[in-house]
Amino acid sequence: MSNELKLGVNIDHVATLREARYRGLPVGEPDPVEAALVAEQAGAAGITAHLREDRRHIIDRDVRRLRDSIRTRLNLEMAVVPEIIEIALGIRPEIVCLVPEKRTEVTTEGGLDVAGNESLIRDTCSRMRDAGIEVSLFLDPDPVQVEAAARTGAEFIELHTGAYAEAFDQKRERNVELERLVAASKLAHGLGLKVNAGHGLNVRNLPLLHIVPHLIELNIGHSLMSRAIFVGLPEAIREFLAVMAGYRG
Ligand code: PXP
Repeated sequence: MSNELKLGVNIDHVATLREARYRGLPVGEPDPVEAALVAEQAGAAGITAHLREDRRHIIDRDVRRLRDSIRTRLNLEMAVVPEIIEIALGIRPEIVCLVPEKRTEVTTEGGLDVAGNESLIRDTCSRMRDAGIEVSLFLDPDPVQVEAAARTGAEFIELHTGAYAEAFDQKRERNVELERLVAASKLAHGLGLKVNAGHGLNVRNLPLLHIVPHLIELNIGHSLMSRAIFVGLPEAIREFLAVMAGYRG
């Protein structure tokens, strides 16, 4: 089996830049769908977009256009709320990643509380499965949450790497976070879950993350788009893929 780590490119912040100028207008630049197509050309294995309830970056027409134009896999990040569930069932991305969502947060702050919302999440997983959509649950590297995730019928978890990224410059705290990620990934794999990871990843903190086993895909957005401003999106993607090529599974 190939251990090649896949890159899912999160295009939310292309839409953030567009919304800064063109909010509420029928057209605008930069176009996140164009970014998705460029990302695929440069080697992205999938495209991730978060349709937030407040539509602060990705908006409904982006999701429809992505569905019609990308050739890899569409990963729709979403809160577990009726309006967005209906949109997902209509659009049919290959996979949805269920995340907690707060209107006041700048970005997704923590993992989903699967243990505290098990029946809602199990029901959502079963509705998605009936529509042919895989489900990933965005989780903190917490064994209680991983065990709960395994009971919901979700195929994937995405480990929240935000705490690791934040602790990166403090060696002791960073190692604690790395160990939590390693343990959570092993536990999830042992329970039959596939494991992705993401949040706060950049070319500095990626190499050490390679000690986390069983990873299939990393979802990366902000740092990749930040780098793209200076070197262009294809080159930024090549830089990330070059670092990820060191992963041995
Ligand atoms: N994965 C999930 C579930 C997220 O919510 C985000 C942020 O939108 C990412 C990955 C990407 O994080 P970043 O933009 O920090 O690379």
